[in-house]
Amino acid sequence: MFSRYKKPNAPAAAPGAPKPAQAPGPKASAPQPAAPKATPKPMPKPDQMRKSAAKAAAQSVPMDKERKRKERLGEIKLELHRSLLDNLNLSAIEAASEADLKAEISAISSEVLSEKGIVLNREDRTTLNQELYDEVRGLGPLETLLKDDTVNDILVNGPQRIFVERAGKLELTDITFKDERHLSRIIDKIVSAVGRRVDESNPYVDARLADGSRFNAMVPPIAVDGSLVSIRKFKKEKLGIDDLVNFGAFSEEMAAYLQAAVACRLNVIVSGGTGSGKTTTLNALSSFIDNSERILTIEDTAELQLQQTHVGRMESRPPNVEGKGAVTQRDCLRNALRMRPDRIIVGETRGEEVIDMLQAMNTGHDGSMTTIHANSARDGVSRLENMIAMAGIEMPIKAVRSQIASAVNVIVQASRLQDGSRRMTSITEITGMEGDVIAMQEVFRFQRVGLTPENKIIGHFTATGVRSHYSERFRLWGYDLPANIFEPIAAE
Ligand SMILES: Nc1ncnc2c1ncn2[C@@H]1O[C@H](COP(=O)(O)OP(=O)(O)OP(=O)(O)O)[C@@H](O)[C@H]1O
Ligand SMILES: [Mg+2]
Repeated sequence: MFSRYKKPNAPAAAPGAPKPAQAPGPKASAPQPAAPKATPKPMPKPDQMRKSAAKAAAQSVPMDKERKRKERLGEIKLELHRSLLDNLNLSAIEAASEADLKAEISAISSEVLSEKGIVLNREDRTTLNQELYDEVRGLGPLETLLKDDTVNDILVNGPQRIFVERAGKLELTDITFKDERHLSRIIDKIVSAVGRRVDESNPYVDARLADGSRFNAMVPPIAVDGSLVSIRKFKKEKLGIDDLVNFGAFSEEMAAYLQAAVACRLNVIVSGGTGSGKTTTLNALSSFIDNSERILTIEDTAELQLQQTHVGRMESRPPNVEGKGAVTQRDCLRNALRMRPDRIIVGETRGEEVIDMLQAMNTGHDGSMTTIHANSARDGVSRLENMIAMAGIEMPIKAVRSQIASAVNVIVQASRLQDGSRRMTSITEITGMEGDVIAMQEVFRFQRVGLTPENKIIGHFTATGVRSHYSERFRLWGYDLPANIFEPIAAE
């Protein structure tokens, strides 16, 4: 779509050649799911999986058969979940095969249903058994939400309150855990699968689920009302430039500008708040990188899915329980500089690695990209200054600023607006230093004009009227952007 601004005689693989950014990537570029935990224990016999039958019988409550059947179906499921958790020997099921476990679950649920005098049709029974299986083998109540493609984030505030984010808005679900013990069992299961531990002495942990989703948990007593869990769902099909333009995240003109900026190796920072779409934007921008370049990516949790063939992915590692073995983003970045990268992409710059990132941008690895947590381009620059100060680098502020000014060319601001929509609210160029101050100019912005009765934001993207500081570079590199791209659009 954007190749019309590309130099006409460019070969197919020239910088900026449109790529099928949305085509599912080759297997090799997909994040590797965490290896399943080895279970050397001997296979238990199905009857070992149950606690005493007497206990099970004691907990069954005879019920009226037909009358309340339908209205109580939901309740029955909950009871069955509980009954199953009480009756299965959880340590034995870890080693059971899928078929054995399914058979055992089906036996227990038939028993409980008949004790309660409930008859379910085959379909209900299959769904029920699957849910029960998810409970003991998968991530319990979270499993349905993980399978739901409309959910972006899953946020657990203690066992009784699970929220999800759909289309930028948070919703409370009717899904719950049985109690804190149930929730912490699921958390333990996730973190132990990746060789981590979470308990009173290590009360918070980051992990990656087997499907690639980003997971964070914090447990009591630091989490006051029960464990807190946050999951950023992994999307196999990442949003590409065309999707984002179609969703109204930014305009076609902005996309054309960004194509030129990335292809002409400007250093780009995507700034934004939590969940504003920074990683998604960075991933989409990476599609403008030429396929012949060697790209190294560095992340705390590998989320980026680049489509190019020559990509080396790195993921930092926190220290183990003895406090050893940490590999920070900075370590990865320093090592990356010895690995002949054409471009370096750091998923999020949040600490001391900022120094090496700016140096890389200044010294031959131009065209590098990263994201930072900030609410505007100006804020983003202050954030970079603060990160440098916090990394213990003692440099006069003017020197820090000129380092930033010569390293960073373009700051793209991603925002999640009050109606839940995610948009690129500004594209700002850094043009140099004016005295002690970093000079910037906004080239594009999202102009809000009002709200619909349904509280949807009305607005449009517009150029600000300033000509790009990099116009000459674009022209020399064969990206002769038409002047009308930079003309402001009047409000309707
Ligand atoms: N323009 C968009 N339209 C619709 N959904 C979007 C858009 N941009 C991002 N998303 C979705 O929003 C969620 C958050 O996006 P993303 O992970 O890119 O945010 P982030 O700013 O990197 O978040 P964090 O600060 O947690 O790292 C993802 O599920 C993503 O698919
Ligand atoms: Mg992110």
